[in-house]
Amino acid sequence: MKKKNFLIPVLSFMLLGVAQAQNILTLTNSQEQKIQSLIKKMTLQEKVGLLHANSKFYVSGIKRLGIPEWALSDGPHGVRAEINRHNWAYAGWTNDSSTCFPPGTALAASWNPKLSYERGLVLGEEARYRKKDILLGPAINIIRSPLCGRNFEYMSEDPFLISSMSVPYIQALQSKDVAASVKHWLANNQEDHRTSVDVSMSERALREIYLPGFKSSIVDGGAYTVMAAYNKFRGDWCSENEYLDREILRKEFGFKGVLMTDWDAAHSTVKAAMAGLDLEMGTDKKGYNEWYFANPLIKAVEAGMVPMKVVDEKVANVLRVMLKTKMVEDKNREKGAMNTLAHQQAAYYSAVEAAVLLQNKDNLLPFDFNKLKSVAVIGDNATRKHCGGGLSSEIKALYEITPLEAIQSKFGKNISINFAQGYKKQSSFKEGSNIGQSNTDSVDWKLIDEAVEAARKSDVAIIFGGLNHDFDSESFDRQHMRLPYGQETLIREVAKVNPNTVVVIIAGSPLELGGIVNRVPSILWAWYGGMEAGNAVADILSGKTNPSGKMPFTLPVSLGQSPAHALGNFPGRNQTVNYEEDILVGYRWFDTKKIVPQFAFGSGLSYTAFEISDLNTDKVVYGKEDQIRVKFNVKNTGVRSGAEVVQLYVSDPVCSVMRPAKELKAFEKVFLQPGESKTVDWNVKVADLAFYDEAKKGWNVEAGDFILQLGNASDNIVQKLKITVK
Ligand code: BGC
Repeated sequence: MKKKNFLIPVLSFMLLGVAQAQNILTLTNSQEQKIQSLIKKMTLQEKVGLLHANSKFYVSGIKRLGIPEWALSDGPHGVRAEINRHNWAYAGWTNDSSTCFPPGTALAASWNPKLSYERGLVLGEEARYRKKDILLGPAINIIRSPLCGRNFEYMSEDPFLISSMSVPYIQALQSKDVAASVKHWLANNQEDHRTSVDVSMSERALREIYLPGFKSSIVDGGAYTVMAAYNKFRGDWCSENEYLDREILRKEFGFKGVLMTDWDAAHSTVKAAMAGLDLEMGTDKKGYNEWYFANPLIKAVEAGMVPMKVVDEKVANVLRVMLKTKMVEDKNREKGAMNTLAHQQAAYYSAVEAAVLLQNKDNLLPFDFNKLKSVAVIGDNATRKHCGGGLSSEIKALYEITPLEAIQSKFGKNISINFAQGYKKQSSFKEGSNIGQSNTDSVDWKLIDEAVEAARKSDVAIIFGGLNHDFDSESFDRQHMRLPYGQETLIREVAKVNPNTVVVIIAGSPLELGGIVNRVPSILWAWYGGMEAGNAVADILSGKTNPSGKMPFTLPVSLGQSPAHALGNFPGRNQTVNYEEDILVGYRWFDTKKIVPQFAFGSGLSYTAFEISDLNTDKVVYGKEDQIRVKFNVKNTGVRSGAEVVQLYVSDPVCSVMRPAKELKAFEKVFLQPGESKTVDWNVKVADLAFYDEAKKGWNVEAGDFILQLGNASDNIVQKLKITVK
């Protein structure tokens, strides 16, 4: 896995960025004084003007005080093209094509926080080039159900993995003078009924599963802004939820930045103002002055229902973010850059490191294209471009290389490439409704026959299947977890005539693979790969690079295996949903209930082999304030360079409350040449082994034994060690 030289500039400014990334939202005394003096000069009207949008993605400034207009932009994996000020149509600019990264699940599948940092830098540079001040990302909601339409944008079912990827993203983005907006605060784990559903969960599930990603994004990442979700949480809208917004966000996390609504997620003036909301975006009322945080807020202040002090706090939050991002009178602000070679390389490596080799019987992959005479390339996803889909995260990519294009350009000179579409996209996209996914299971025998013919006359067959953004999208959930468009039949028929068949899954959320795992030797999960998708996948298939991704979520055998569905609480009833599975989300459920999934969380193969050995700790008995120094060796025992993601899970076998069978507490992606070995050295805080104790209303590590479990997948633990906490 050799990185090309042209990545070095990106990486070197990355390291520089790490050193500078002290983005906690505290200002100097003189900056805070400046904020107070600006506030003193403002009329109530001017203050309120800073607290609601004046168009789809802009917020007014105050010219006479030198406060500029604020520019916001989607989205998590690229800077979205310019949208008209007063309607949702694109503005038709010619200079707003951007770098498109693989979306969130793919980022998490790389298990490489450096790539997340690199992405943050690129997004920051491109946002600044486009004169944007806030980028609406990262999107970090927990993947609770395989069906959530936005799973592809989110990262994982595991809060530790989410935090590990989110913090560097935010630090890097903000080092480029662009504010991050961590979204969607909180429990926006489904798209169906997202604007009406009321989510309940235990305090323990909140603390252990749903909050940690946000907490670390805010406290460690120093996120300047947070986006309140559409849904309700325990009876109150997230944008006016006293417990979430005042108690947790402001008091516990000490958040001093801007809490904004999701687009059209405001519901009140006084309640939201008092709960701590700062900025209203996207309200669906024609006149901007009619918005909750416009004239009604002025009236509420005049009537004494919202104290001026509360408005001033909001204005201070806004100004703080403006000063932090050097918006006000700062000539040193990042100028930005667009679509540089380094940006495109970052997108490429992000796609390469994301790909997960799920299965590779008899080492069918990699293909030696020098020895092949013909290759069948099959499937609608061999030619489909995906960057432009998914709704708010859609990107007008400068270019997008499809798998077929890449295979043709890399190998087409010497090999005959036999393309067949194989199956047709039978779905359609309709915002707000998954009806476009209905009746999309017909088998098109004509297309299958053509594909079989192509496969029969080729040395190997590669089927690019999976989903597209008619399924993986904001605004609706999927109806089922199956492979649509008759793909199972296609795969079965192709595999019958060509045993050297590889399936490449392009999708951003779990799919049932039981119908194909025994039919084909090799399955590669390549995600939506962004603008460099084709190049990345072709280089993995040919072995130019070695796959190193690991699943960021569990792939169940069937939907009914997964917790929310096993318990029948997705997407809820009568606009309410109770997360009865509690803390047993994802692998925590599968492992604790001893349910064997199709492919486990954290799993993924390589073209080389690794040996993990010599797990040891510095002590056997630890105090509650201690750190556990964990050391082990990892060796590349094969003949190719590659990277292994070593994962440390911990379990607490005897505890006064139920604990999951194991929980991820550390990981590292270790790059090794053939024969090379490395000693890895981690510090794990004993405090991080705690559970949230509802009785004590706090974190609790009970004295006793804990088992450290080290492996390269949640279902492949190779070393265990017992430690004792006293
Ligand atoms: C989405 C947000 C997005 C916003 C602006 C909303 O519908 O939920 O994630 O940032 O639109 O496009």
